[in-house]
Amino acid sequence: MIEFQQVSKHHHGQVAVDRLSLHIRAGELLVLIGPSGSGKSTTLKMINRLVEHDSGKILFAGEPIRRLRPEDLRRRMGYAIQSIGLFPHWTVERNIACVPRLLAWPAARIRDRVDELLTLLQLEPAEYRDRYPHELSGGQQQRVGVARALAADPEVLLMDEPFGALDPVTRLALQDELLRIHRMSGKTIVLVTHDIDEAMRLASRLVLLDGGRIAQAGTPLELLTRPASERVRNFIGRSDLGLRLLERQTLADHVRPGAPAGDRTLEALPADCTLREALSTMVLHGVDEMAVGEAAGPVRGHIRLTDLVRAGAWLK
Ligand SMILES: Nc1ncnc2c1ncn2[C@@H]1O[C@H](COP(=O)(O)OP(=O)(O)OP(=O)(O)O)[C@@H](O)[C@H]1O
Ligand SMILES: [Mg+2]
Repeated sequence: MIEFQQVSKHHHGQVAVDRLSLHIRAGELLVLIGPSGSGKSTTLKMINRLVEHDSGKILFAGEPIRRLRPEDLRRRMGYAIQSIGLFPHWTVERNIACVPRLLAWPAARIRDRVDELLTLLQLEPAEYRDRYPHELSGGQQQRVGVARALAADPEVLLMDEPFGALDPVTRLALQDELLRIHRMSGKTIVLVTHDIDEAMRLASRLVLLDGGRIAQAGTPLELLTRPASERVRNFIGRSDLGLRLLERQTLADHVRPGAPAGDRTLEALPADCTLREALSTMVLHGVDEMAVGEAAGPVRGHIRLTDLVRAGAWLK
């Protein structure tokens, strides 16, 4: 879908991206992660030509992006970023409708789409569509920015720390929303974050940049369990490794049949909760067995503490 071939970018003689080769496949949710200044944003912005590359080649659907007009490229790629974004003298509706208007969608279709996106991002349309950006909180502005990126159903979504200004609860909810959108639409998404937990949750593939080069690329599990270097290992975070592995699995795959032997007054854990959450809940209640159920459904079985301990054991 998007292919970098030996791409470099310099700023004032300093290298920001150094002979980067990377193939972003159609439908993947690729997360770029790395320390500050490692070239994540530069890499992202080269894709839609907000930043022009100095050398090498970038292909989009087989075609060098230099041959495409930047406006056309940007219509095919939604772009959401943390810091800027919304036009201050335009309402929320007009901001979101930016690309659909350029594409001359009929007014009714635009209106429906704006409603749909505001609802998706948990902003009540009647309340928010006519507001101006300065009448929104930082997190609400960010959500409008994400809605704008999604508006014309682009082939590719480019997101640069799109959830940076959000509180942890809203952030988690939007991460879930993004995963749902990705699952439903099969869109190609390239997301930049420096939050390792966010990267682990979202990525179908992770690319760790360091000094403008790829330190390692692979699935979250590969980077966790087979880091290519000490630097990668340190960046991913050694001490939380066990918990991060639990974070990547849900209870559904570990349920034992039958009700738990111990305390039955505790509410059942939902089958879609992560093993990490399950561990945390067991620790909080001081129990080593808990029932597992569907959301608001009957008890499906149970889980033991030892199951969790074994599920994380990659070093054994
Ligand atoms: N417009 C610019 N002019 C000069 N140097 C720049 C410019 N944009 C980026 N750089 C430099 O290029 C390097 C890579 O920057 P980039 O913004 O891609 O990093 P990043 O990985 O996104 O970092 P962060 O996590 O802090 O956002 C940095 O050393 C930065 O100072
Ligand atoms: Mg950046």
